[in-house]
Amino acid sequence: MKNIVLTGFMGSGKTTIGRLVAEKLNIDLVDTDSEIIKEFGLTIDQIFEIHGEKKFRECEKRVIERVSKLENVVISTGGGVVLDPENVKLLRKNGVIYFLYASPENILKRLKDDNTRPLLKNGDKLSTIIRLMNIRMPFYKNCDFEINTDILSPDLVAEKIISIHMAKESKR
Ligand code: S3P
Repeated sequence: MKNIVLTGFMGSGKTTIGRLVAEKLNIDLVDTDSEIIKEFGLTIDQIFEIHGEKKFRECEKRVIERVSKLENVVISTGGGVVLDPENVKLLRKNGVIYFLYASPENILKRLKDDNTRPLLKNGDKLSTIIRLMNIRMPFYKNCDFEINTDILSPDLVAEKIISIHMAKESKR
């Protein structure tokens, strides 16, 4: 089976939904942020603080190079993975890309007390979310399927991804 690759902004539910999809299909979930954390032995916040975003992105790219070679897995990506077209190209080789959309208001609701996202630490959170989302939207839109998570429960989003994916697989 082709990999199920989840993309989207921070707080769009990639990890939660990835876990549900993997559980329902009884396959492995690979979370790119967790892989980066393992490589550095530091939290994302510490990596940004000590090594800077550039080093984080370099590690992220190495992780994508490695995990994109897998098959039959769910890959939950960090919100900035799609900014590098090389990453998208690699992930598409063995995978189908599902963009999980969530509105800025919903993202704020989910992340208002979160301190683990270095990019949302300074300034007004909602303005930062809107600004970054506007810049990133064309990159997220370069997906195979877009799913609006504002109007569905995580369980229903997972079911929807599975049904799209299985229909696609049966035609291969
Ligand atoms: C980032 C998203 C984060 C993490 C890092 C950078 C981004 O992952 O990779 O903080 O650039 O959007 P989540 O999307 O899982 O929060």
